[in-house]
Amino acid sequence: MNIQIINGPNLNLLGVREKSIYGDASFDTYLTELKKRYPDVNISYYQSNVEGEIINKLHEIGFSFDGIVLNAGAYTHTSIAIADAIAAIKTPVIEVHISNVHKREAFRHHSYLSANCKGVILGFGMDSYRLGIESLIG
Ligand code: DQA
Repeated sequence: MNIQIINGPNLNLLGVREKSIYGDASFDTYLTELKKRYPDVNISYYQSNVEGEIINKLHEIGFSFDGIVLNAGAYTHTSIAIADAIAAIKTPVIEVHISNVHKREAFRHHSYLSANCKGVILGFGMDSYRLGIESLIG
């Protein structure tokens, strides 16, 4: 089974950025744990701060992979283009967020992506990614 994790803008700074919200683990450390936990799942990882690159990655793997776990960061709240890319591909996408965006600023309460995703997981810290994988492997 091939699962792609995609992280959007500023998520390369996990472990450094706003630790009280996002925790102090880097994504690389977390990814190593995830891969150990699911040895039979082929987990690929991609991060970009650039909207078009995230769209290109969705197009590239969105007709062959079994599932995508996507944290689009702030593009969640702004990007009709990423929403359209999710609608265009065949691979199911799980939208994830580390923080509970509904407890935060009002501009984070709306997602352009959710309606085109299979489901949404948010507010469980880094564990949101693991729950996303669990939902795909059933
Ligand atoms: C985030 C929530 C977004 O509102 C924010 O812009 C992020 C991270 C999260 O994982 O909690 O960059 O997607």
